[in-house]
Amino acid sequence: MSAHGTPIPMTAHRSGPLKGEAHVPGDKSISHRSLILGAMAVGETHITGLLEGQDVIDTGRAMRAFGAEVTDHGQGVWTVQGVGVGGFGEPDNVIDCGNSGTGVRLIMGAMATSAITATFTGDASLNKRPMARVTDPLALFGTQSHGRTGGRLPMTLIGARDPLPVRYTVPVPSAQVKSAVLLAGLNAPGETVVIEREATRDHSERMLAGFGAVISTEVTDQGRVITLQGQPELKPQTIVVPRDPSSAAFPVCAALVVEGSDVLVPNIGLNPTRAGLFTTLQDMGADLTFENLREEGGEPVADLRARFSPDMKGIEVPPERAASMIDEYPVLSVVAAFATGDTVMRGVKELRVKESDRIDAMASGLRANGVAVQEGEDWWIVTGGGPGSVAGGETVQSHLDHRIAMSFLILGMAAQKPVSVDDGGPIATSFPIFEPLMSALGARIERTET
Ligand code: S3P
Repeated sequence: MSAHGTPIPMTAHRSGPLKGEAHVPGDKSISHRSLILGAMAVGETHITGLLEGQDVIDTGRAMRAFGAEVTDHGQGVWTVQGVGVGGFGEPDNVIDCGNSGTGVRLIMGAMATSAITATFTGDASLNKRPMARVTDPLALFGTQSHGRTGGRLPMTLIGARDPLPVRYTVPVPSAQVKSAVLLAGLNAPGETVVIEREATRDHSERMLAGFGAVISTEVTDQGRVITLQGQPELKPQTIVVPRDPSSAAFPVCAALVVEGSDVLVPNIGLNPTRAGLFTTLQDMGADLTFENLREEGGEPVADLRARFSPDMKGIEVPPERAASMIDEYPVLSVVAAFATGDTVMRGVKELRVKESDRIDAMASGLRANGVAVQEGEDWWIVTGGGPGSVAGGETVQSHLDHRIAMSFLILGMAAQKPVSVDDGGPIATSFPIFEPLMSALGARIERTET
């Protein structure tokens, strides 16, 4: 089933060369944070380039439910009239975060240190995902939570009336957990300290500083020690959301595997905590270049040019790179199917608790389409046979996971026979223009009759 309706089966056929420019939408992580931090500032935050995917729209609706005025001015321009740190009101109704783990976990953090109660739910995918990783550290502030067995949604949080500041070492590499603790720390007195052993995406730290919070990061032997001074008055911002490298990954990887392709993906944010896929592809021998490298809004940005790359080789992806490309393993596994030899991906247990179990979803769909895959709890290996080697011809399940659906459609563009997904509906959570954008490049994707 699609996230918000009936399933939308889709099929991708072997496609001719992909050519042209792909203007991908705004960054999902930064879009969520723009709305949430905008709601916690005093005054009006102005956002351009907001990703208008369902996940972000659900977060905007949630911010309204907590009392912020969130206005859609069209064409990715949004304003948020914030209520200030500690200014959230109690929602009248259940907060439905749809498919979004980032949405629900960050919002839980943002409300956890206000004396209000809120109940959260999501779709069938989100309601299976672990929330204890967030509610455990929030309990240290004094927040209570009551969810289903195993810490699953639906779940009610009772915000701490007299929150205490917290010092917390994040046990799993997760920017969502780190961010939830930092957002909760905003309304606690004194210093909240979050320690992460492995660097994860640092948008929260950068944006909190931009909104005027006092926050610093020290790199130590134990990892990154992030210190936030509580109870600041956040100042509203003007935010230009960069384009999403995780969405750029799809046209880039499609160009690498579809014969004769040459695609330019302009204006992509290349924050080092997000850009691991592109380094990995270059290590595999991809013809991928960064043109017009520059800095925008304090972030490195470039135009990516990807050309068909028939000579890519499987590699061992360094496990320490995993956090910087965690959302890109599904599409990397598709590229790996068209490279020669083994692509070994280790240290990726987190893939099992995303919108779906991504190792399982990709391994079974790849195998069905003729690709050899081995897997263990925190590793998997895809054995590629080079260009033209993938048989295709099968329908795979997307498991309510946008990145699984898009990855298999890319597989179909270069496989011998078409590849279908049972439901492409979830693509709208992060990349609502995926079908027209890919079709304009020359991809043959269609919605399949049922
Ligand atoms: C995100 C963090 C990552 C990532 C997700 C977005 C964020 O999740 O997979 O798509 O915006 O903080 P984890 O925190 O579970 O690693």
